[in-house]
Amino acid sequence: MNRSDALLDKREQRIRQMFGEIAPWYDFLNHLLSLNIDRYWRRKTVQLIPPPVPAAGPILDVCTGSGDLAIAYARAADPTLPIIGADFCHELLLQAQRKAQRLVPTHKLTFVEADAQYLPFPDNTFALVCVAFGLRNITDMHRGLSEMVRVCQPGGRLAILEFSQPRHRFLGRLYLGYFRYFLPLIGQLLARNRQAAYRYLPESVLRFPDYERLADTLRNHGLEQVTFTPFTGGIATLYQGRKPSGASNPSIRENIYQLSSPCSDAGGTWRLQPQQDRHGTDFVSAPTK
Ligand SMILES: C[S@@+](CC[C@H](N)C(=O)[O-])C[C@H]1O[C@@H](n2cnc3c(N)ncnc32)[C@H](O)[C@@H]1O
Repeated sequence: MNRSDALLDKREQRIRQMFGEIAPWYDFLNHLLSLNIDRYWRRKTVQLIPPPVPAAGPILDVCTGSGDLAIAYARAADPTLPIIGADFCHELLLQAQRKAQRLVPTHKLTFVEADAQYLPFPDNTFALVCVAFGLRNITDMHRGLSEMVRVCQPGGRLAILEFSQPRHRFLGRLYLGYFRYFLPLIGQLLARNRQAAYRYLPESVLRFPDYERLADTLRNHGLEQVTFTPFTGGIATLYQGRKPSGASNPSIRENIYQLSSPCSDAGGTWRLQPQQDRHGTDFVSAPTK
């Protein structure tokens, strides 16, 4: 493996370890290095793709990390709307859990430790499936997308917020300089980690399909009404699509609560519950206290 391939190694264990290592710094550096614009991008996402009404069905935030998009949705949603944040990085989920308890304590927000490529939810479950800055990191992006489409209800929506490359020449150059040189320097200096997370970030973005190419990929996954909306000159882009109506819809809420059945409190934190998903893959659910 050459140096660039090693940097872009997206095997599950490496990605999970990388985010685990930077977890203590994750939120701080996100807001610092984006000059807080990342908050605006998530708010804008919620504005453009508002939360469904509770009767329509729950929301799933895939690759939820420290939970910012799930929390942004909770803030805008009816408190009775179930929202689930799923991620395979335990350290970030702990932060998400704490943040949600502090910021949206009355909302039905649950975090589940699961691989996006093997989502532990039944088909046709969610009215909205969203992901922010996560799709690019999934080992097999197509497998992740297929899972997102599978668990989305017919007629439901998918929302993908992801970095993209500005097309404006001047902004593009400025961005490239900042992203390629300044960001890795500061990121690696503060959040020291063995996986070179802040060198991986620009490389993974520069090699990821954006705009029309990602929109085409979503169409190839069977979505309709696919559109994309660049934010901040195209530094980030919101992609959205709809799963075509027609397929039958199993009743879903009982299934979700099977997963989030509360487990007993062990010494002020919550205990993890090993389970197996329908593919026989081990995952651990991290239910709300
Ligand atoms: C850049 S962070 C984004 C976190 C959050 N959505 C946000 O907006 O800040 C990417 C997240 O994707 C998660 N991730 C990557 N691959 C994954 C996979 N296969 N299954 C579950 N989570 C995954 C990582 O653990 C990490 O939390």
